[in-house]
Amino acid sequence: MDFKGYIAERVKAGELTEQEIYDLIALPPNTEMGDYALPCFRLAKSMRKAPALIAEDIKSAYPTDNIVCEVSAVNGYVNFRINRDLWAEETLGKILAEREKYGSSDEGQGKTVCIDYSSVNIAKPFHIGHLSTTVLGSALYKLHKFLGYNTIGINHLGDYGTQFGKLISAYKRWGKKEDIEKGGLRALNALYVRFHEEAEKDESLNDEARAFFKKIEDKDEESVALFEWFKELTLKDVGKIYELLDVHFDSWAGESFYNDKMQPVIDELNEKGLLVESEGAKIVDLEKYGMPPCIILRSDGASLYATRDIAAAVYRKNTYDFYKCLYVVAYQQNLHFKQFFKVLELMGKEWAKDLIHVAYGMVSLEEGSMSTRKGKVVYLSDVIDKCVEKALAIITEKNPSLENKEEIAKTVGVGAVIFGALYNNKIKDITFSYDKVLNFEGETSCYVQYTCARCNSVLEKGGDAESYEAKNICPQEFELIKTLSEFPDMLKDALEKYEPCFIARYTVDLAQKYNKFYFDCKILGAEEKDKNFRLALTRATLIVLKNALSLLGIGVPEKM
Ligand code: ARG
Repeated sequence: MDFKGYIAERVKAGELTEQEIYDLIALPPNTEMGDYALPCFRLAKSMRKAPALIAEDIKSAYPTDNIVCEVSAVNGYVNFRINRDLWAEETLGKILAEREKYGSSDEGQGKTVCIDYSSVNIAKPFHIGHLSTTVLGSALYKLHKFLGYNTIGINHLGDYGTQFGKLISAYKRWGKKEDIEKGGLRALNALYVRFHEEAEKDESLNDEARAFFKKIEDKDEESVALFEWFKELTLKDVGKIYELLDVHFDSWAGESFYNDKMQPVIDELNEKGLLVESEGAKIVDLEKYGMPPCIILRSDGASLYATRDIAAAVYRKNTYDFYKCLYVVAYQQNLHFKQFFKVLELMGKEWAKDLIHVAYGMVSLEEGSMSTRKGKVVYLSDVIDKCVEKALAIITEKNPSLENKEEIAKTVGVGAVIFGALYNNKIKDITFSYDKVLNFEGETSCYVQYTCARCNSVLEKGGDAESYEAKNICPQEFELIKTLSEFPDMLKDALEKYEPCFIARYTVDLAQKYNKFYFDCKILGAEEKDKNFRLALTRATLIVLKNALSLLGIGVPEKM
């Protein structure tokens, strides 16, 4: 039941519409005063009355009943108290009926959202810098699906550029097939690093690399075959990580996919008089908008990253007719996105407003930063392995006789990496700390997973209640119920603001509320009536925690 709507329907406040009242009603942070509150400050002007008086009037006119059982006016707020037993029954009934669908909706029906995320570069290390785009993008992907959107996950592969010429040159000079096959991405990166070292001594290597790159473009058989091989090796390596992190894509159309899709865009820019010549290059002048020009073609005629992104946006609109297209990319690329969004707008694409750069901050490791060219790289797979290893050590120490320790450590360790990257507002720079993300008492996924294991153990001993009734529920129970009932709205909010951290924070909050309830209230030892209700509450908590974690790509072990 929508209590907020129920209240809004019955409040009389001057000229205000039901919707306006609905939007004003909020959940007060502390429930001592009431369960919902209507602040009257914004009404004061139009009603020409002091907020406290308005609150008094609204209170007097409000018809209390068995649903909204108490109304008070305090300091310009009208506070409403809901029949908590009813609230509890409504909420539990809904969760236990909807189960893994609880929180989902069809608000996105008929709308397609493209999400460009992870977007790895072929033959370059998949390092800690790719963690955020991968897990943020994946969470947004799952969240959109859960709320009914038709969602297209796109891995805009970095599979075009002169670096592939360098790699071929390096491979032909120093590479061995077996080594590369065995070493995968790391071996390729070692070649890349060596190329840069040697090119510093011998300039001509760069010319050779350029020639090889040209050969790829001219579809020379050997060069193309080598490039395809590098690509295959890269995708095999990153595929393992995607599997661990439960990350999926519907399209792998990368930069090279747009090789033959740029000319029409360039022609259109030309026709619309947007393309101007500058020092031999072709650019779109953005000075009026306070930005440096967007370079479309270099003086040697080569296209650029932005050219491909413009072509990609046009292609996506034509192919998917998206409602929105999100780009989950670090804030370092803010200018790039602002520039090419503006170019599309100048081209008269009214849908340019539906392109959204979901920017996020940097992740660094406590141990220090890295540099790809010099070969100082923190591989994401190493970070995951280390987390799983540490999780195993902790679990073994806490619960030596636990079965399936390895499997559980994997779920816990991987969860910790994901959660660690998602817990803060996305725009913040974060320092990743193993001890912090694996702190079982902290604001972590393992704390939440541990709470799930606690729920499981309660349910294993007590079974699921066949029927239950809410009568005079206590404050701990109510706090839990209230948080459970907020899940669907929280998800909508997370989607609207592109903030998976809301979901992560919610799980910690819900777990804390459950644990307070667990320690303060007897469950298995309670009277039959209380016991049944509390078992149902435990089941509902477990369902919601699992739903929330699965949206982040995090699993839940039965036992821990
Ligand atoms: N591969 C790029 C990088 O590593 C990210 C691509 C993001 N997506 C896009 N459409 N530009 O920086």
